[in-house]
Amino acid sequence: MKEFWPYLKMLRPVKWHFTGAIFAGIIYGLASGFGLPFVTSEVFPIIFNQAEYAHFSKEARDVLTHEQMQQMTDEMGEVITTEQRKELGWDKDQGTSFWILILAVAILPASFAVRGLSAFANTYLINYCGVRVLEKIRCMIFSKLQVLPLSFFQKNQSGELVSRVVVDTTQLQNGIIFVANDLVKQPVTFVGAIGALIYLSLRESDLAFILLCLLTIPVAVLPIRYVGRKMLKKARLMQDESGDLTGILSENLSAPREVRAFNLKEREEKRFFNSVRRLFAHQMKVVKYANMLSPLIEFISAVGIAIAIYFAARRGVTLEQIVPLIFALYMSYEPVKKLGMIHNRVSQATASLERIEYILDAPIEVPEPEDPKPFHIDVGAIQFDHVSFSYDKSPTLKNVDLTIEGGQVVALVGPSGAGKSTFANLVSRFYDVQGGALRIDGRDIREVEKKALYDSIALVSQDPVLFNDTVIENIRIGRLDATREEIEEAARNAFAHEFIVDLDNGYETIVGEKGTRLSGGQKQRIALARAFLRNAPILILDEATSALDTESEQKIQQALDKLLPGKTAIVIAHRFSTIRSAERVLVFDDGRIIADGPHSEVYQTCPLYKDLYDKQA
Ligand SMILES: Nc1ncnc2c1ncn2[C@@H]1O[C@H](COP(=O)(O)OP(=O)(O)OP(=O)(O)O)[C@@H](O)[C@H]1O
Ligand SMILES: [Mg+2]
Repeated sequence: MKEFWPYLKMLRPVKWHFTGAIFAGIIYGLASGFGLPFVTSEVFPIIFNQAEYAHFSKEARDVLTHEQMQQMTDEMGEVITTEQRKELGWDKDQGTSFWILILAVAILPASFAVRGLSAFANTYLINYCGVRVLEKIRCMIFSKLQVLPLSFFQKNQSGELVSRVVVDTTQLQNGIIFVANDLVKQPVTFVGAIGALIYLSLRESDLAFILLCLLTIPVAVLPIRYVGRKMLKKARLMQDESGDLTGILSENLSAPREVRAFNLKEREEKRFFNSVRRLFAHQMKVVKYANMLSPLIEFISAVGIAIAIYFAARRGVTLEQIVPLIFALYMSYEPVKKLGMIHNRVSQATASLERIEYILDAPIEVPEPEDPKPFHIDVGAIQFDHVSFSYDKSPTLKNVDLTIEGGQVVALVGPSGAGKSTFANLVSRFYDVQGGALRIDGRDIREVEKKALYDSIALVSQDPVLFNDTVIENIRIGRLDATREEIEEAARNAFAHEFIVDLDNGYETIVGEKGTRLSGGQKQRIALARAFLRNAPILILDEATSALDTESEQKIQQALDKLLPGKTAIVIAHRFSTIRSAERVLVFDDGRIIADGPHSEVYQTCPLYKDLYDKQA
C-alpha cells in the first residue's frame, strides 16, 4: 500500500472530486452499515407488532408471543363494548397504523435510494480521480522516455517498454478503479455495521454475546495476507511475461522481410507460442489467487454467523430480535471480504506500479547541468581533452586528445568497431565522457543547457529515421518553425526536390512507417534536407555504408559540397569522394587515433589508412 503514497499528491488538482467522493462514500457506508440493520430493527417491529398489537405495552409485547397476544385480543374483544373500544383507542389505532405502516415500508426504499445515489456519486467521482491520476502517470512516463539516455533503449527492448506504458498502466488503472470503488465505502460500512451491532446489543444487553462473533474477523486477516503476498509474486511474473510477449511481437513486426527471406516462420512461431503459453500459466495463477479469497472469507463469516445463531437459539432469542443483528453481523463481514479483495488487487497493481517505476526512476545518465549556462556557438571548435570512454568494461575510446578547429571538415576513417561512431556520439552528448573533457568553443558540454547544445548540432545518421507523416513534415523536423518556402529550398539544396515533386502527392505524400515507401538514397537526401534546414554550426554525418547508385551518390556529394562550407563537420566517411572533400583525416584503430592530417599526408605515413583507401579505389 505504501508504494502508492507518493502518487497521492497527484490528487491535488482533483481535490474537490476526491472530497466529494469521500463524502458520498461515508454516506453510503452509514446507510448500508448502520442504516439497514437499524431499519430492520426499528421498522420491522412497527410493521409486524405495532399495527396489530399497539394496545399492548412495549414490555408486554416483548414477553408475549404473537399467539398469546392474538388470543388475549380475541378474548377481550368479546367482553368490552364499542364505547370502551373507542376509549382504549383500538379502532383509532387501526387508522393510524395504516399511515405508520406506509411510512415504515417507505423507509426501506428510501434508505436504499440514499445508499444507491451515494454509491453512484462515490464511484463516479473516485473513478474520475483515478483515471486522471493514471492519465498523468502515462504522460510522466512518456516525458521520461524522451530524456532517458540512449543506453536505456539499448538495454531495454522497445516492445517491452511499450508494454510497460500501455499494459501496465491499464492494469494499474483497473486496479485503482477497483480499489477506489470500495476504499472509502467499505471501511465506513464496517464501522457503521459495528456501530449498529454495539447499539443493538447495548439496547438489549442479553444480546451482547453477539459481539464475540466479531472475533472471527481477525482470523480472516491471515488468508488475506497470505493470498496478497502470493498475488504480488504471480502478478509480477505475469506482467513480465506480458512484456516479453509484446517484445517478441514488436520485434517480429519490425522484420517482416527477414522472416520471409530467412524462412523464420517456425522459429518465430515457436518463440511467440511459448511465450503465450507461459503467459497463460501465470495468468491462471493470478486468477486462482484473485478468486480464492472471497470464498475463504465467506466461510469464515458463515462460521461467525453460525456461532451467533447457536447462542441465540440457546438463549431463546426471538426471530425479530436476532434478524437485525444477523444483518449487522453480515454487514460487518462483507467489508472484510471486500477489503481482502482490495488488498489482493493492490498487490496485483503493485506489480504493475513496480514496472512503471522502473522507467520513472531510471537514472538520467546524461543529466541537465544544475546551473545551465546559456550557450551560443561562436566558431564551433571541438576539443577532445584526453577523453576516454567505454560502454561497459573494455575501453572504447582511449585517451583521445585533439582539437577540431571551427569550420573544419574532418573525415573519420578506420576499421569497423574502431570507435568512429562513438567519437561522434560523444559530441552530441548521447553519452558523457568518462575521462577527460569535451569542450565546444572552450565550454565543457556537461555545463551547458542540453537543449542549446542539441540546437547547435545537426545530425545525419547512418540510417535516418522517417516518421509516418508527409514528406514536408519529415523535413520540417530539421527546424519546426520553418516555412514551406524554406523547406522547399532545403529540399532543393539536398537534391531531393525533384524526386519529391514526382511522388504521388508531392510534398504531401505520406512516407510510410520509417519511410518504407522511399528508397535508401531518397531517405538520405531527406535527412540532408533536414540538415540544410537546421543550418546548425556543427554537423555530424554518419555516412551510410550501403552502396548507393552512382546518381544518388553524386547528388549526395553535390549536396554535401553545398552544406559543409562554414560548418564544423565530423563526417564518418565510407566513400572516397567524401574523404577527399575533407581537409583533415582522423584514422581510428581500436579506440585510438593513429593518424591525423590531410589526406595526402596521412596516405603517405599511415599504412592502415593507405590499405583501407586503396581497397576502396
Ligand atoms: N551501445 C553499445 N554498447 C556496448 N558496446 C558498444 C555500443 N556501441 C558500440 N559498442 C562497441 O564499441 C566499439 C566501437 O563501436 P563504434 O560504433 O564506435 O564503431 P565504428 O568505428 O563506428 O564502427 P563502424 O564503422 O562499423 O560503424 C565496438 O567494439 C562496439 O562493439
Ligand atoms: Mg559506426
